[in-house]
Amino acid sequence: MIRTAARRAAILLAGAFAVSLAFAQPPQKLPIVPAPVPPKPSLQKWIRYPVAPKQLSPQAMLGKQIFFDATLSGSGKMSCASCHSPEHAYGPPNGLAVQLGGANLKHYGVRAVPSLRYMTYTPHFTTDYYFPGSEGSEDEGPAGGFMRDGSIASLHEQAAHPMLDPNEMANATRAEIARKVRLSAYAASFEQVFGKGVFDDANKTFDSVGMSLEAFETEDMSFHPYTSKFDAVMSGHADFTAQELRGYVLFNNPMRGNCAKCHFDQPGPNGQPAQFTDYQFISLGVPRNREVPANRDRRYFDMGLCGPYRKDLAKQMSLCGEFKDPTLRNVTTRDVFFHNGRFHSIKDVLHFYFERDIYPQKWYPRRNGKLVVYDDLPPRYRDNVDRLDPPFFGQKPGRQPAMSEADIDDLLAFLKTLNDGYSATPGGSRSGQE
Ligand code: HEC
Ligand code: HEC
Repeated sequence: MIRTAARRAAILLAGAFAVSLAFAQPPQKLPIVPAPVPPKPSLQKWIRYPVAPKQLSPQAMLGKQIFFDATLSGSGKMSCASCHSPEHAYGPPNGLAVQLGGANLKHYGVRAVPSLRYMTYTPHFTTDYYFPGSEGSEDEGPAGGFMRDGSIASLHEQAAHPMLDPNEMANATRAEIARKVRLSAYAASFEQVFGKGVFDDANKTFDSVGMSLEAFETEDMSFHPYTSKFDAVMSGHADFTAQELRGYVLFNNPMRGNCAKCHFDQPGPNGQPAQFTDYQFISLGVPRNREVPANRDRRYFDMGLCGPYRKDLAKQMSLCGEFKDPTLRNVTTRDVFFHNGRFHSIKDVLHFYFERDIYPQKWYPRRNGKLVVYDDLPPRYRDNVDRLDPPFFGQKPGRQPAMSEADIDDLLAFLKTLNDGYSATPGGSRSGQE
């Protein structure tokens, strides 16, 4: 609890700062003595956008081939791109809560597919995080790492998981993958890049596959295009509409949306463009999703940091239910939301944030006539659900939601500015209007 309170105070400050920028108001009435006209409020920030490499490195080019190569799966029909679709910001190509995979493509996964965009600045996982720029320098708890539970340290190690996961690409062994790469169309370039003997050692082949995928995911601009309207506004090439600006202010206002607290929207310390996550972990109490076949077992709970997939924090009961704050870039292009894919419409997500504890009967089921709130956690961990951070703070039945329908529409208009494809270049002006 101390952790959450300290976090809240630190972010209230940061949030107030952001809001003060957005609230530079013009004078309301004509002054008696003509006052100097205030300069137009500008949201422009010092941001360094990445420059597209002239050409991908040979490793990254291999990674690209591997990413799209379905022969590397047990079924022969599934590649990384089957779940991380390039046409969907490398997120899922459909609205399924969890995807089908496995040797015969009949096995369901256990979590919703995240977008692979904007992962580059993911810090290493730590249980004691100090967020750069947060005043208090207080220990803010766990943060960072890849996957929704932060369990994987690097992109090259990550590649092993989908390739060997029986619900995903379903190869039995590393050697099986190594053999497939040796027989692939790009085997010769693979040898050229990683050395003559690379195929003699299956582990070496396998590790090189990981290095190639990491190079592709890091170098290729399609993973971090920064071509959203938000980027264009922040770099001075465009203006928000009045509605988008209202949404931006609600997003930042620590007493209203408070979204920026976790989906951090300021540039990083070295001018990195906003990533819309602070990489920390929170339990939001997302309702259980009956569409996830694993949930048919009543005793099964996906509790994020404390397991069952992640093993090292299994005894840290206060972390049960916590999942990583995801980026919100391109979020309105998704058809499935949250770790368990419980929601299929962004509007439902927003209503959930503002109504969770006010109209709990709208979100949670009844069992034997009794309402079961936070039903996707075992009863003993339900206290871990965040009730201290706005928009949850002080919410209870009988209260008014912190946002009206019109506010929610404004927030949504702002979220849409986070979708890539507005400009031709990172932080540039609108496509075709150079
Ligand atoms: C069957 C669907 C499926 C396939 C195929 C698949 N993934 Fe994933 N991927 C997922 C899911 C689901 C997650 C989230 C898992 C979790 O959090 O535990 C994920 C997570 C990731 C992450 C972590 C993202 C983050 O934000 O931390 C990376 C990186 C990734 N996948 C890369 C790949 C690569 C590379 C391949 C091909 C070798 C691949 N995936 C194949 C479903 C898939
Ligand atoms: C206290 C931290 C916190 C605050 C405040 C917060 N979020 Fe989140 N948000 C999260 C976490 C954690 C998740 C992932 C939860 C999960 O998967 O179980 C998430 C997920 C989401 C998602 C789903 C993304 C996806 O890819 O599935 C959306 C959309 C979202 N948040 C929007 C918002 C908006 C809009 C606000 C402000 C009204 C907000 N969030 C406030 C922590 C926060």
